[in-house]
Amino acid sequence: MNNFILPRKAPRLIVLQRIELISPFLKKLRKMFGRYFFSSFLTKYFLNPSIIGKKYYEIMLKEFLTIEKFIDVEDKFFLSIGGGMGGLELIVNQSFHNRNYYFIEKNYISKKIKYGWGGKVNDEAYNDLSIQKSFLVTNGMQNSQINIFDYDKDSLPTIKFDVIISLLSLDYHYDFELYMDYLKKVCKPSTKIIFDTIRADNFFKVFKNVEVINTSENTVHKSKRILCSHFLN
Ligand SMILES: C[S@@+](CC[C@H](N)C(=O)[O-])C[C@H]1O[C@@H](n2cnc3c(N)ncnc32)[C@H](O)[C@@H]1O
Repeated sequence: MNNFILPRKAPRLIVLQRIELISPFLKKLRKMFGRYFFSSFLTKYFLNPSIIGKKYYEIMLKEFLTIEKFIDVEDKFFLSIGGGMGGLELIVNQSFHNRNYYFIEKNYISKKIKYGWGGKVNDEAYNDLSIQKSFLVTNGMQNSQINIFDYDKDSLPTIKFDVIISLLSLDYHYDFELYMDYLKKVCKPSTKIIFDTIRADNFFKVFKNVEVINTSENTVHKSKRILCSHFLN
């Protein structure tokens, strides 16, 4: 596989989740007409699904290469927090077969997306969980591997995970604190938590092990990708 097949309505969600996917032309229109018009109209009618599917695949593959070497063959239970459509997990699934994937996401699209830092106010979202499920199955994940949870409505899974991944979501748009108690419950000392943060130094006080594995200057916020394990308290 070197591209993703997108179910109807998925292209819009993907460009909202990965704004770097929009063409320079759409970028101009977004500037001219504003964010509301962009997210509720332009993204509905002006996207080419096969181009978005291909570009989304390339971006997710690039992201995978930043984390691949930290995934071990023994890792079986993966949790994705704010994984969007789940393109990254599909690529993990291509390389590491028969793993179990848990996704915690939100199930709505904000009217006006700002891509800001909300701190403890966490009301921006751009996903639809039934479209996410259909995207994952269409691109090769088995139904039995997929467990999707709505952050606002469901009881979250309480098993111990081996790997937890949150790109451009936890501590990038909203405060890590919102998930702190939950993560302490579902982590073993060896659980690897990989996320993008705008304040990496903060986490030396939270985890025994913290490693910066990537730095991004060109994303919406300047951020560092860190790999952490073993909560100190
Ligand atoms: C910028 S997108 C990144 C999506 C994906 N990780 C990627 O790299 O393409 C941020 C995602 O976080 C989700 N989100 C926002 N608040 C969340 C929360 N409290 N828990 C889980 N996901 C959340 C949004 O719906 C959105 O899909």
